[in-house]
Amino acid sequence: MIDIVTALRAEVGRVVRGQDSTVDLLVAAATLGGHVLLEGPPGVAKTLTATALARALDVDNSRIQLTPDMLPSDVTGTVALRGGELVFRPGPVFTNVLIADEINRTPPKTQSALLEAMQEGAVSVDGERHPLPVPFLLVATQNPIEQEGTYPLPEAQLDRFLFRVRVGYPDESAEREIVSATREGLRPAALNDVRPVVDAAALAAARDTVQDTFVHADVVEYVVSVIRATRRLPSVELGASPRAGLHLLAAAQASARIAGRDFVTPDDVRSVAEVVLAHRLVLSPEAELEGTRDHDAVRAAVSSVPVPASR
Ligand SMILES: Nc1ncnc2c1ncn2[C@@H]1O[C@H](COP(=O)(O)OP(=O)(O)OP(=O)(O)O)[C@@H](O)[C@H]1O
Ligand SMILES: [Mg+2]
Repeated sequence: MIDIVTALRAEVGRVVRGQDSTVDLLVAAATLGGHVLLEGPPGVAKTLTATALARALDVDNSRIQLTPDMLPSDVTGTVALRGGELVFRPGPVFTNVLIADEINRTPPKTQSALLEAMQEGAVSVDGERHPLPVPFLLVATQNPIEQEGTYPLPEAQLDRFLFRVRVGYPDESAEREIVSATREGLRPAALNDVRPVVDAAALAAARDTVQDTFVHADVVEYVVSVIRATRRLPSVELGASPRAGLHLLAAAQASARIAGRDFVTPDDVRSVAEVVLAHRLVLSPEAELEGTRDHDAVRAAVSSVPVPASR
């Protein structure tokens, strides 16, 4: 497991500067088969990081730019008449790593085609179900939702993302490296140097390893308590789902492996709590007015639960 993490970090690191935690989370998601939402202001390498990761994996990838006029069939595919027969022409969703850029710029119908793909690993076209390749990993990007002309993802869709990662501005030394990097036109030249270093079999093996990471009963109890605490917070209208609980534990297992351990600690759980939970919480209107943010609610839930002593 640690060798694939090192390899992916190195390949993505050829082109992306100063986004180590984003890269680690993408790697964790890839091993778990979870979907990731990258959120942040323009120009912070959301698309670049997703593209570099997709290239570092030796699997198929494709990228779609979501727009207001995009139809579900532009994503899933169409049935067309060919030689007197109806044939299914698969859309861009039939791939292993799909980068769905600016997912909040497309209307709900097209978003929900992606929703089915994320949850079912299949899409329906004209009432017929077509299974997607395995693995199927969606990396979506969006700018913060206050913008005009966007369609904020509904809670039901947000719950299907394993992580929402807030991508922020780099620190000063990374910023220096970014502006002085070799370019091809305006693009970073190093993107061409990213090699496919991890294949589907290695990903599947990593998934087994993560799944075998030991979890003490106290840690399970801790996860359950944190999830249940989110539902009791006065600032929260909709707390974390049971799915969120299982995502939280699985993410903690991946985080333990990335740290080189074969057992999960409460700190692993705490370290991923925000990226796993914050996007799933719906705050009460009063809390929103007071300026409470979803990650504040996660922190409040986590700190309301006593940390188990051992492990
Ligand atoms: N951390 C970084 N490391 C290397 N290059 C960077 C980094 N941040 C920004 N860049 C440069 O800025 C360009 C824009 O990045 P990218 O298109 O991935 O941004 P984005 O976050 O997807 O923006 P948008 O929201 O507009 O789609 C990259 O191609 C790269 O040249
Ligand atoms: Mg982008």
